Amino acid sequence: MKHIDSPGQLRTSYLDFFAARGHAVIPSASLVPDRDPSVLFTTAGMHPLVPYFLGAEHPAGTRLVDYQKCVRTNDIEEVGDPTHLTFFEMLGNWSLGDYFKQDSIRWSHEFLVREDCLAIDPDRLWVTVFAGNDSVPRDEESAALWRSLGIAQDHIVFLPEEHNWWAAGPEGPCGPDTEIFVDLTGTRCPDEDAATCLPGLCGNARFFEIWNNVFMTFDRRDGVIRPLPRRNVDTGMGLERTIAVLNGAATVYETPCFAPIIDALVGKGAYPPEEIRSDAKLTRALRILSDHLRTSVFILGDRGQVSPGNQGAGYVLRRLIRRAVRYTQHLGVKASDWVATADVVVDMYGEAYPELVENRGRILAELAKEQERFAQTIERGTARLSHALAELRQSGGDTLPGDVAFQLYDTFGFPLEFTVEIAAESGVGVDTDAYRRQFALHQERSRSQAAKSGLADDSEESTRYHTATHLLHAALREVLGPHALQKGSNITKDRLRFDFSHPTAMTPEEIRRVEDLVRSWIGERIEVTHSVMPQAEARSEGAIGVFDEKYDGTVSVYRIGERSLEFCGGPHVRNTGELGHFRIVKEQSSGAGVRRIRAVLA
Ligand code: SER
Repeated sequence: MKHIDSPGQLRTSYLDFFAARGHAVIPSASLVPDRDPSVLFTTAGMHPLVPYFLGAEHPAGTRLVDYQKCVRTNDIEEVGDPTHLTFFEMLGNWSLGDYFKQDSIRWSHEFLVREDCLAIDPDRLWVTVFAGNDSVPRDEESAALWRSLGIAQDHIVFLPEEHNWWAAGPEGPCGPDTEIFVDLTGTRCPDEDAATCLPGLCGNARFFEIWNNVFMTFDRRDGVIRPLPRRNVDTGMGLERTIAVLNGAATVYETPCFAPIIDALVGKGAYPPEEIRSDAKLTRALRILSDHLRTSVFILGDRGQVSPGNQGAGYVLRRLIRRAVRYTQHLGVKASDWVATADVVVDMYGEAYPELVENRGRILAELAKEQERFAQTIERGTARLSHALAELRQSGGDTLPGDVAFQLYDTFGFPLEFTVEIAAESGVGVDTDAYRRQFALHQERSRSQAAKSGLADDSEESTRYHTATHLLHAALREVLGPHALQKGSNITKDRLRFDFSHPTAMTPEEIRRVEDLVRSWIGERIEVTHSVMPQAEARSEGAIGVFDEKYDGTVSVYRIGERSLEFCGGPHVRNTGELGHFRIVKEQSSGAGVRRIRAVLA
């Protein structure tokens, strides 16, 4: 396989290959979509091209090729593991009613195997194709095309809609796809059999998807699929992932897409590289600093001109910057040095994305300003706290009252763990119980305000569904793995609907196991308990769920025995025995990498 020395090498190779086949090279679109108010950021290469799939004329013609900057932040908390990134680039070639399956598949194969392109051993390639459903037939044509190129019959796998149907969202252009995988090990995994050790199905890291060719031929509106006026091709190759495979790198962080950033940060930190590598916490902090810096630089350098703020894209940016600034402490990097490393990112990516160079001043200034603001929040809180500690000393006390700690949190955004730490330096304790009582009271008040304005439904039925949702979440993670995290939830008096991250459709067996687990936990009549604690403490105990990231503030969590611990405002039942009979009614796709379950309690 070709070794890639810089992201630019793969970009150029891809663009040249398709330009030589009549494709016009188009620039990356803005990261902040101007047309689509339903998303904060461009999340896939095809996103900016949606109007053209639907029939609009593209000024550059009917054959296009590009690299597109993308941001996905629904998995922000997962960043730090080996695979999640909030920013990535996608290479794509596009046919707007021009060529179709034959050229698309032929060119993909050629680019992957040719010695002067990616030089992948053809025997390592596996593909999946659409197995068909009630409205669209099995894709024999694509399978035959792959066979004609020499892909062995047993490397071509037909998979159903859950795997080989691509749609950017519940509405809009969609179609069957053929996904291309590289076999990393060349042998069947010991814990899989021939029917499961296949691309898209194998639970291990044997197969790595590097390219997805979507035959965009339908449009879904109000649940109905209609053929598009013309047949399009949408392909996507993740740049960072592909370089990792080609270079045999263990993670994307060990590729040239990150190396200069990582080196710069390590150079500014307090630990030698070997120590970081052998310490999981340090490795995680380094990845968070690198990922969040790259993403922040791209958002700030975009023509969308987003600044850190309290809503929308600005809030995501603020979260990224503040989260990174907090992690600078773990690695012993000065926050201002983290900000200055933005220069390295601009230097690395400036040629491919000239807007970064144009906006270099803005990027550095906004990063510094936000870091400063965050520091001030911490500083103002510290001043108030010093005052309170001085008063306490005068009166001979040794415990800071809970309402002072709460005021620090509420007014200054000052995290409880900071209060505790600083108070301890003066030999003073904090009445954290009183703090938590105050916090709970405060939450109760906002909740009842919400209820009065009709926002919250705490009817008995909905409350049961709330608790059932927590059990379902826990059961999914037990059966499918810890990646199965909540992406959305909607509860009515009659059912729950739960969206979670999972790449493939659940098998009937998995659905049954999840259902059985939830039922058994209901049968165990487990007590449900509520507590309020610092977010860091909740997280270290493994609490999951969607929460307001208040930068280490205090959070409300519900515990269901040993089974579940989730951030949640409630309300919940007192005992799982109150839930009744749990049944999953439906499991379906809800966008890329997200599944949706509907379940009822009878
Ligand atoms: N839209 C498809 C994807 O994102 C192919 O570009 O995978």
